[in-house]
Amino acid sequence: MDDDLEVLFAEETISRRVLDLGGRISRDYAGRDLLLVGILKGAALFLADLARSVTVPAEVAFVRASSYGSGTASSGSVTVDLDAGLRVTGRDVLLVDGIIDSGRTLSAVMAKLRERQPASLKAAVLLDKRSRRTVDAPVDYIGFEVPDRFLVGYGLDRAGQYRNLPYIAVLKQE
Ligand code: IMP
Ligand code: MG
Repeated sequence: MDDDLEVLFAEETISRRVLDLGGRISRDYAGRDLLLVGILKGAALFLADLARSVTVPAEVAFVRASSYGSGTASSGSVTVDLDAGLRVTGRDVLLVDGIIDSGRTLSAVMAKLRERQPASLKAAVLLDKRSRRTVDAPVDYIGFEVPDRFLVGYGLDRAGQYRNLPYIAVLKQE
């Protein structure tokens, strides 16, 4: 393994937690019209696994969000690219992201989804860097609370690298 990486959550630890979350989501959304919306690209791996651990009918979609600024922290402005054809109105939307840091990305995407008047709007994130929050963004399903370190793997990147690691690691050089 890369010398700069220190495993924080092993593959088995992640999959157990994702199964737990999927179970809770399945109970909470039984009989509803669930639309899972992942934020690209970071949520891609988490949503792929979460969707398979959800046992109620669900549609899976993605939205693109990007923030401008330095490579490792998001800056003030977030652009959200939501497919015009995605049917949101009147549906039970669960927004999914790999990690929440300042909260800007999640809150910007939630605002955009809210414009289309979903029946309900909640959020699920695998990793919560709670100590860094500057924008209020309520998260209903959280995998793990994590320290203020730069993390990679399982969808999270550093300059496009490391997304395909099956585990989550601290990048020690950051
Ligand atoms: P926020 O908008 O500050 O909450 O940041 C959320 C976004 O920043 C995530 O969707 C990630 O793309 C990125 N991000 C924040 N912390 C990390 C990290 O530790 N590793 C990789 N990406 C991160
Ligand atoms: Mg990134």
